[in-house]
Amino acid sequence: MKITVVGAGAVGATVADNIARKELCQELVLVDIKEGIAEGKAMDMMQTATLLGSDTKIIGSTNDYSKTQGSHVAVITSGIPRKPGMTREELISTNAGIVKTVTENLLKHSPDVIIVVISNPMDTMTYLALKSSGIPKNRIIGMGGILDSSRFKYYLSGALKCSPSDLHAVVIGGHGDTTMIPLTRLAFLNSHAVSHLLPADQLKQIAADTMVGGATLTKLIGTSAWYAPGAAGAALVESIVRDEKKVYPCCVALEGEYGQSDICLGVPVVIGKNGWEKIIDYKLNAEEQEAFNKSADAVRSMNEVLNTLTV
Ligand code: 2OP
Repeated sequence: MKITVVGAGAVGATVADNIARKELCQELVLVDIKEGIAEGKAMDMMQTATLLGSDTKIIGSTNDYSKTQGSHVAVITSGIPRKPGMTREELISTNAGIVKTVTENLLKHSPDVIIVVISNPMDTMTYLALKSSGIPKNRIIGMGGILDSSRFKYYLSGALKCSPSDLHAVVIGGHGDTTMIPLTRLAFLNSHAVSHLLPADQLKQIAADTMVGGATLTKLIGTSAWYAPGAAGAALVESIVRDEKKVYPCCVALEGEYGQSDICLGVPVVIGKNGWEKIIDYKLNAEEQEAFNKSADAVRSMNEVLNTLTV
């Protein structure tokens, strides 16, 4: 098994580190455009091998995609991260060109690769990767909902004083401060509906905190977060390479599911060796469906910006 991570910044390096710790592959290639950074971070991670007991071989590469030859899965994290006060959407013109070029380079050397997109604005970057590459839709997965759900569970577990792993809570829709939809009605602590355990106004606040979860961290750290994004990216890769068939909310191409078409948006999907294998229908109520439609409208108008760019 061979995995490539493109972008050796904080998110890319953390995805790679998690993949190596879990020994998800024999060979892991870390690529970056900046001279030496991928080689350096790969070497640093390799020097943890005896400490962590990992036998994954990590190779760094400055923009030489021939080293990625024959990758089964590739994670794209390249592009500029947001700074405090910036939305993910403001990154579109810079990151679109980068994501398109990276996708082309990856496919040149690994025509059957499954691509996980993390670069922001993620929903639009996933759509761009799909449209520009023309590869089957199941092989392009945007990572957002799994991270946002993890933040949702973080806030819920704080309020409920419970273990986050006892929670089932999902965020669907776009991966944007105003486009994501924490599904409070479908949040459960073991078999108890969270809506029966917390007052409605507290639950509403938790949903609001979740939606700006990334922005809160950006304000505190001064740049975009990386620990949870890195762990979320690696969890997706794990379900692919181990064919776990886990259900995660991911950004995928919709063709009528959830009432939307010609868009990539976050919905629960089964993740296995073929990429995303099936969309699960959560049977949204009218209010949730309305929020989903609004989220789709916002993401669609962002996608339209792609037509004005010469990428
Ligand atoms: C975040 O929400 C990186 O978009 C990512 O932190």
